[in-house]
Amino acid sequence: MSLMNTKMNVPTSILSPMAGRIPKPLQRRVPFGLAIVVIILFFYIGSSYDQSAEVLKRVGHTVLSYQTPSKAAGDRFPKKIWQSWKVDPLDFEDRDRGRARSWPTKNLGYRYEVLTDGNDLHYVKTNFGPHGLNRPDIVKAYTELEAKIIKADLLRYLVMYVEGGVYADIDVEALRPVDDWIPPSFNASDVGLVISIEIDEPSWSNHTILGPKSQSFCQWTFMSQPRLPVMLRLIDHVIHWIEDMTKKQQVPIGNLTLNFDEVLTGTGPSAFTNVMFAEMEAQTGSIPPWSYFHNMTDPKLVGNILVLQVDSFAAGQGHSNSGNHDSPRALVRHHYHASLWPSRHPRYSHPAYGMVEECNWKPECVHEWDHNTEIYPSLPEEEKQNLIKIKEHADAEKLAKEEEEKAADQKRIDDEELERLQKICATVPPAPQPPAPTEAPPPPADASPVAAPNKEPLKKEKKKEKKP
Ligand SMILES: *[C@@H]1O[C@H](CO)[C@@H](O)[C@H](O)[C@H]1NC(C)=O
Ligand SMILES: *[C@@H]1O[C@H](CO)[C@@H](O)[C@H](O)[C@H]1NC(C)=O
Ligand SMILES: *[C@@H]1O[C@H](CO)[C@@H](O)[C@H](O)[C@H]1NC(C)=O
Ligand SMILES: *[C@@H]1O[C@H](CO)[C@@H](O)[C@H](O)[C@H]1NC(C)=O
Repeated sequence: MSLMNTKMNVPTSILSPMAGRIPKPLQRRVPFGLAIVVIILFFYIGSSYDQSAEVLKRVGHTVLSYQTPSKAAGDRFPKKIWQSWKVDPLDFEDRDRGRARSWPTKNLGYRYEVLTDGNDLHYVKTNFGPHGLNRPDIVKAYTELEAKIIKADLLRYLVMYVEGGVYADIDVEALRPVDDWIPPSFNASDVGLVISIEIDEPSWSNHTILGPKSQSFCQWTFMSQPRLPVMLRLIDHVIHWIEDMTKKQQVPIGNLTLNFDEVLTGTGPSAFTNVMFAEMEAQTGSIPPWSYFHNMTDPKLVGNILVLQVDSFAAGQGHSNSGNHDSPRALVRHHYHASLWPSRHPRYSHPAYGMVEECNWKPECVHEWDHNTEIYPSLPEEEKQNLIKIKEHADAEKLAKEEEEKAADQKRIDDEELERLQKICATVPPAPQPPAPTEAPPPPADASPVAAPNKEPLKKEKKKEKKP
């Protein structure tokens, strides 16, 4: 379908210089003829592919990316902040509301929108359906996907491609205004995309498990101009990956089962990072080595991609030299509570030593884990069982502790809510009292606390409120 756009595009740009030299009746046919030639050429070039349908689709993608270039260089970033969550902000839990509010509060000149589980599909169909960019493959994938994290990842790329602006996960709090994100030392019109380093642990780049995650950019927050080819590249990567996975697993899209690492490389930070490098190569002719970004203390511009240092979007991780949120360069704070998805997409966990990721990149811990898991297979069976029991015990204790903390958190929230309500009640004038019975029996000495304590604090609160 997107080939139709080619037909319209090619003649207008190529024909005009030739128009005077071609007889009138032929002129009318030239556009059609040219379109046919273009189509045949595309098929010819693509003949090494097995399926012509696949070729058509790829051509469609390429045409789309040329047809919709980024808006003229020099355009500002759209002043709009995007988030996505199950529900809209009016129904946010207290925890999410506070963090979400930090965005409009710190960015008064910006619009703010949250896409929800209720309106995301309509958004995708509108913008990628036949009346939008006409990408039935994207609409189909988004409609059928069940894995929430994959949908959430894909959605941010779709929105940033269509509209641009700032995307931030729901558990990310704004610390500084978006207008401060591009340092004055850069000309904002040279910048198309603002990203930040997430993991900068290149010394683990050869580690079996940690290696692929040891050098990455984050995609929980970034800023993009609309219609950037890099965003389309990312979307196409995701769509191809989904198609590959359904072929590999021989199931419909909705039945895909994905582990942690597949999520990372399919749609998550690894996918994002790989595509960023591909784009840097496309723009500058070479892939910068990670050492160019390692221990970076100032932002670096590669092509039109501005890479911020790790503490900008990922401060306080306890690794990657990411410092803390007091740093003047910390632009956001990531609270990590939306990251429940790892529990739904399992990763490698050793029966006796658990996940190496739990080391949080601490060298001694990773070395110990490597050593332990290496000698584990040679241990006598009895000792293995013993180690597993010890781990299960530790896990149970940890779980109990977490439950306890969760309960304590909930109690704190409930107490605060109660206090808030009591304050509100204190400002409401007391209801008129029924006339006191004339012959009230004297209350027994030990019964007075029943009524009294409630009244006393209320009076006090009332006085306090009037003071200022
Ligand atoms: C920024 O770049 C644009 C386009 O290249 C140019 O017109 C403008 O003068 C530059 N501004 C500064 C402050 O260098
Ligand atoms: C990873 O392995 C390659 C190839 O063996 C080696 O050249 C490189 O120095 C290693 N990197 C690290 C960080 O150990
Ligand atoms: C996909 O999942 C649905 C619902 O769980 C199930 O009914 C169907 O059989 C599954 N299809 C395949 C091919 O696994
Ligand atoms: C990067 O910073 C860390 C921590 O400050 C330091 O240990 C390491 O040597 C630095 N690496 C390079 C290549 O400068």
